[in-house]
Amino acid sequence: MAKVVLITGISSGFGKAISELLSSEGYAVYGINRSQNEDLDGKIKVLQADVTDVISIQQAIATLLTREDRIDILINNAGMGITGSIEDSSHDDIHLQMSTNFMGYVNMIQAVLPAMRAQRGATIVNISSIGGLMGLPYQGFYAASKFAVEGLSESLRMELLPYKIKIVVIQPGDFHTSFTANRKPALSQNGGSVYASQFEKTLSLIEKDEKGGLKPEFLARKLSKILKKKNPCHSYIIATLEQKFAVVLKRILPGSMFSSILSSHYGIK
Ligand SMILES: NC(=O)c1ccc[n+]([C@@H]2O[C@H](COP(=O)([O-])OP(=O)(O)OC[C@H]3O[C@@H](n4cnc5c(N)ncnc54)[C@H](OP(=O)(O)O)[C@@H]3O)[C@@H](O)[C@H]2O)c1
Repeated sequence: MAKVVLITGISSGFGKAISELLSSEGYAVYGINRSQNEDLDGKIKVLQADVTDVISIQQAIATLLTREDRIDILINNAGMGITGSIEDSSHDDIHLQMSTNFMGYVNMIQAVLPAMRAQRGATIVNISSIGGLMGLPYQGFYAASKFAVEGLSESLRMELLPYKIKIVVIQPGDFHTSFTANRKPALSQNGGSVYASQFEKTLSLIEKDEKGGLKPEFLARKLSKILKKKNPCHSYIIATLEQKFAVVLKRILPGSMFSSILSSHYGIK
């Protein structure tokens, strides 16, 4: 019987690449999409929901369970990024960041767990980021949302041990997806902020890294292999060698030294 996988945010980027690959490999793929509910290629079954809206998620999962009666894999992927200095970011934008990237994952996890516990065996994949392992300038709340996902995943892994539910965290580096175009800048950055010129310089470096980044299909292929492992690791960094090396440096260097290297990468003196 085909494994049932539920993926959030399948309209572009990682979600699109992962859902297409897993569907071609014979999984029964269900995808959460905010804007439409028509099945894709007659194969990927689309459930319309917004991950920040608990009711819409519960309805989507109830629909899935009437058709399949189990969820083998949840891939929490839907996300976005706000950008701007911490001082300039509005509470509305910070709320949007945390309610999508953190509460969105929480909402999905709480909604699938009753079925996953009952079937005693499943996998939850949380797409985090290298930004969940190190703070990034002008992406402070994005990094905070991913650090939160990291902590949540560690705690959840222990709580779900008795129910044979595995938690796998994926930490991608820079990838070329719609994430860059969809990023929401803090409005005050345009209107005379003291950070404006540094922000512009740093943002152009962030965008250059992302636009020159890996393709989402690369991550989809890696994830497909991870899902086939009997005992997957707790987390996987999927990134260029340089970005993997940055994570190693963060672990071994004194904080002040690592912070200088990262600041200089982002053009901050
Ligand atoms: N690209 C990178 O370099 C990178 C690096 C590290 C981690 N990540 C993480 O990877 C994940 C996917 O990002 P991506 O690069 O594939 O970006 P993307 O191309 O912009 O895709 C994001 C997806 O999330 C969906 N989404 C956003 N908010 C949603 C909501 N409230 N409810 C339901 N769906 C929602 C979007 O749907 P709509 O079409 O409705 O907006 C879209 O399908 C994110 O968690 C991101 O933080 C990305």
